[in-house]
Amino acid sequence: MRRGGASALFGIELRRLRQQHGLSLRDLSRVVGFTPGYLSKVENGRSPSAELARACDDTLVAGGALLAMANAEPAVRPAQLPAGIRRFVGRDDQLERLDTAGARVVIIDGPPGAGKTMLALHWAHHAVDRFPDGQLYVDLRGHCADDRPMDARVALDEFLAALGVPADGIPDSLELGSALYRSMLADRKMLVVLDNAADAAQVRPLLPAAAGCVAVVTSRGRLPRIAASRVTLGPMTPADSVALIRRVIGDERADREPAAVADLAARCDYLPLALRIAAERVVAQPHSLVRDLVEELDADGRLNVLSTYDSIALRTVFDWSYRRLDEGCARMFRLLGLHRESHIDPGAAAALAGVTEPVAHLLLDRLAGVHLVQKVGDRYRLHGLLREYAADPRESRVRSRRSLDRGLSSIESVHRSS
Ligand SMILES: Nc1ncnc2c1ncn2[C@@H]1O[C@H](COP(=O)(O)OP(=O)(O)O)[C@@H](O)[C@H]1O
Ligand SMILES: [Mg+2]
Repeated sequence: MRRGGASALFGIELRRLRQQHGLSLRDLSRVVGFTPGYLSKVENGRSPSAELARACDDTLVAGGALLAMANAEPAVRPAQLPAGIRRFVGRDDQLERLDTAGARVVIIDGPPGAGKTMLALHWAHHAVDRFPDGQLYVDLRGHCADDRPMDARVALDEFLAALGVPADGIPDSLELGSALYRSMLADRKMLVVLDNAADAAQVRPLLPAAAGCVAVVTSRGRLPRIAASRVTLGPMTPADSVALIRRVIGDERADREPAAVADLAARCDYLPLALRIAAERVVAQPHSLVRDLVEELDADGRLNVLSTYDSIALRTVFDWSYRRLDEGCARMFRLLGLHRESHIDPGAAAALAGVTEPVAHLLLDRLAGVHLVQKVGDRYRLHGLLREYAADPRESRVRSRRSLDRGLSSIESVHRSS
């Protein structure tokens, strides 16, 4: 054992497992063949010999965890944060909330393209000095095109490897792996960023328990079952939206057409991803006016224009959320897109969908839970780009054809069980 910190961890884990098995030091000593005095010293931070580590691992059924801790590379200090963006704009209130949250877990939730990942990374880079033992990052792919969400197991194995646990020391079960992970973080100050989480079950095994660690989780859902401090991201302010466009297109063009830039920001619903795509379009067409793009958005439909040429199309990003809806929610979402007004109450939604009011309420709450509609008092709101998307025949037609029957039966089953 080469490092004080790592042998301290071994000692802590050894004591925990010994007590969990209801063994005294003397009991353990009889089985493993080392004196109680030596065992006690190891529990208090002295380096274990390789034989002792192996004997304890076998006796206490640690599944390799103790061995792994004995062999952990010294002073592994992971620095896994991807780069943030240089042109980060605004979000002052949310950054302040993150600074002062004082919680071990912070969840950043909000609709697709709201800037959750960028906020998490920007804050993480700015707070890096608070976490001298390193930073872990994983994209859990909770909302990606065709990929299924990452298995918590896979993420955990990656983290353990990054913490220096050799491959043959990674325990087989998720529970043991997670316990080893928490033990390894126990006396460290580390930041863990869990980006794009699908649900609470995926996140839980990856949460450190130590007071010196913070986990920042981003998700399109609210993850209500996780105890955490929360930051919900909505649209940007109009002023920050204009600043975002300006950073991308440059001061010169922005100064030439300030009114068009403001109109462009409004057409994007002040949604950062849409703003970014629109601004890149302006850059890609150096001989056009900003006003030309505003007019194109009005004439051809915002969703179409913001989804045509770019590597990340707005429609695609919305698809990732929509495709994860169950059939009942998906159908309600599409119907809301056809509804004439932007606000609706559960009674009207029930009539629209031909379901009872409690069912409509449930479906609307679930849509609000993944930020595809907004809850405003007793009513629900679907506006702007998402509304255009909900009414968008392309995605809905594909989905409704294969799912209308299933959708209706799932609504009925929700109805029956509610
Ligand atoms: N505060 C910000 N300043 C500048 N650009 C931003 C900001 N937030 C988001 N963006 C832009 O919007 C895009 C989408 O943001 P992202 O964090 O990926 O959204 P989300 O994770 O919520 O889906 C980013 O690629 C970035 O270009
Ligand atoms: Mg993201």
